Amino acid sequence: MTQDELKTLVGQAALQYVVPGEIVGVGTGSTVNKFIEALAAVKDRIKGAVSSSVASTERLKAIGIPVFDANEVGELSVYIDGADEIDGVGCMIKGGGAALTREKIIAAQARRFVCIVDESKKVDVLGKFPVPVEIIPMATQRIVRQFAALGGLARLRLKDGAPLLTDNGQQILDVTGLQIRDPMAFESAVNQWPGVVTVGVFAHQCAQVCLLGTADGVKTLTY
Ligand code: 5RP
Repeated sequence: MTQDELKTLVGQAALQYVVPGEIVGVGTGSTVNKFIEALAAVKDRIKGAVSSSVASTERLKAIGIPVFDANEVGELSVYIDGADEIDGVGCMIKGGGAALTREKIIAAQARRFVCIVDESKKVDVLGKFPVPVEIIPMATQRIVRQFAALGGLARLRLKDGAPLLTDNGQQILDVTGLQIRDPMAFESAVNQWPGVVTVGVFAHQCAQVCLLGTADGVKTLTY
């Protein structure tokens, strides 16, 4: 099975976690796009969605699903999103699609995070995938130095030769060279650095369920 087919499988499998009559939290990325396509079939059975990015909002609206502002709704039953890496206890690296801050906000608003990934994303230790960090631009060089002190190399994410701007109008550093053996401590520490908006390690907002797309079908991992 191709990676794309595995993404389709887990996107469809995630439908079982969508609660009829409720608002579902929707993440961002190519795997979530498969989930949004699957959601089209049950759109009349849900009240709507809260979305983690402009891109997902546009896709949801295009298939006729009402999109609510996070401030308009209370606790969500479920948030469904992909990840760049997920470890053995449900901690993740996210933000490859630059939506990490809104993703973490919605994850915090949901009782259950259902992570949908193909098996290439499963790791023992987080850090092979560059850790995305959304930052306030005036703090860039100091944050780069702080990561260097931890053995990491932080590079500004570019788009068409210019710094990429997130949906929040901020920039992203991608940090290589880290092995994150204590994701909870790492997330807490980096989030305290002045100028960091969000670090793309999701340990405090880890997944409770992972739908893992494998050659043998979808495996359900719970944490
Ligand atoms: C976006 C994310 C995505 O969930 C992550 O990058 C995985 O994306 P994809 O499903 O395209 O592999 O965190 O900010």
